[in-house]
Amino acid sequence: MSNTFSEVVLEKGHDESRQGEALVIPQEIENTASKKVYLESYGCAMNFSDSEIVASIMANLGYQTTPNMEEANVIFVNTCSIRDNAEKTVRARLNMYRKIKRNKPGTVIGVLGCMAERLKAQLLDEEKLVDMVIGPDAYKDLPNLLMKVEDGEKSVNVLLSREETYADIVPVRLSGNGIFAFVTIMRGCDNMCSFCVVPFTRGRERSRDVNSILSEVRDLSSKGYKEITLLGQNVDSYKWTNPEDNSIVSFANLLELCALVDTTMRIRFSTSHPKDITDEVLYTIAKYNNICKYIHLPVQHGNSEMLKKMNRTYNREWYLDRVAAIRRIIPECAISSDIIAGFCGETEEQHKETISIVLASQYTFSYIYAYSERPGTLAARKFEDDIPEADKKRRLAEINDVSREVSHELNKLDIGKTYEILIEGFSKKSDKDLAGRTSQNKMVILPVSEGIKIGDYVTVKITDCTSATLFGKQISA
Ligand code: SAH
Ligand code: SF4
Ligand code: F3S
Repeated sequence: MSNTFSEVVLEKGHDESRQGEALVIPQEIENTASKKVYLESYGCAMNFSDSEIVASIMANLGYQTTPNMEEANVIFVNTCSIRDNAEKTVRARLNMYRKIKRNKPGTVIGVLGCMAERLKAQLLDEEKLVDMVIGPDAYKDLPNLLMKVEDGEKSVNVLLSREETYADIVPVRLSGNGIFAFVTIMRGCDNMCSFCVVPFTRGRERSRDVNSILSEVRDLSSKGYKEITLLGQNVDSYKWTNPEDNSIVSFANLLELCALVDTTMRIRFSTSHPKDITDEVLYTIAKYNNICKYIHLPVQHGNSEMLKKMNRTYNREWYLDRVAAIRRIIPECAISSDIIAGFCGETEEQHKETISIVLASQYTFSYIYAYSERPGTLAARKFEDDIPEADKKRRLAEINDVSREVSHELNKLDIGKTYEILIEGFSKKSDKDLAGRTSQNKMVILPVSEGIKIGDYVTVKITDCTSATLFGKQISA
């Protein structure tokens, strides 16, 4: 996520908007299987969620997940292609696996996910150690693909599907804390933003059967999960048609249905596209206490001409109108954003409009990325990637500075207010402190107190803040 993203460990099933280079630490799943799979994931929450589907399919084949790659029979890396850096990280990991394979030649190495889809069989030529290449819609073919490898062949399946949603697979939860879970509600993306590789790596948009989503949510509630995040590249265009009576379930309907499953379980969602977020969705968020008052609404750029070139299909005015609608309908809602610095042909004036939209939108957080040209995208074919790297970095830093100031000012306004937070665990910095999030997705640090445990809701009064964190004290259990 922006400048700090590459260091972030995605372990809490919580950082729904982290897209790019996050690493998932595999957890050991107790069973008696003798074969072991080591599974590592990079990229967005959707990839993380896919890894849970892969773990489930592998469990059916008798594979137990292991956090130790040395003891694995199969090493899978679930990859991301969103920026060049994301792919470089994966190449570096493959080098690491090469050493393992040298000591244990029978180890099967599989590349999964977006980079597998983008490079297809070419990856087998480029990286000789790789035995399997599997795209995001082909995980159900894993049994066949593994069999082929056992017979001494290399195997590839990168077919994209118009229907696959893995609705019938119960994911094996890898995050392990039993509090947060991702629930994928749709796959693919039809938007064709000119800079973006996702439509090529994830295929056409399709929505998952509402009944299977709700049964997963019910199951999570019965197991004591406290927060679920509904995932899709563009959740607001969720649309499922009931084949029995042709009735349509919209994203607003789905949010409501999920909120009603268990009113003590928080519902989050990511990502919203500004062109599709409707007032109906906003009213639904406002209506239910347990739908979190937080919307990740990536703007990408503040200048209308750039937005057109990016093929985002909205302009600055439209975006600001949506922000105004959020402020009107859900006054306590926090908004965060994704921003790209140094897109093709960006002038200093256009860059300044990005800075001004950060100020106008009052984001609690922004993930800021330097534009990275992706082969095959509309932008790569049509526009020159002409902003020097140094300018991209400087512009990124300038946006970051303003963004941090805005976050700090917003956090200062929270001092003296009370919030209900969901306890996630100890603070990263000290085991004398606990950490929990507000509905607005802000992290609050508070002193450890007897009786508070992970998964508890605690009411806190905010006493201090930095630009990234609130500090508080408990006022009731
Ligand atoms: N579906 C989401 C975002 C998916 S990708 C949406 O539409 O908002 C996550 C973020 O990565 C994007 O929001 C964008 O800011 C960034 N991104 C995508 N392609 C990029 C590229 N080529 N270079 C730099 N950043 C990129
Ligand atoms: Fe990429 Fe745009 Fe789709 Fe998001 S909406 S995944 S940025 S094409
Ligand atoms: Fe990366 Fe694919 Fe997600 S490109 S951001 S892992 S959809």
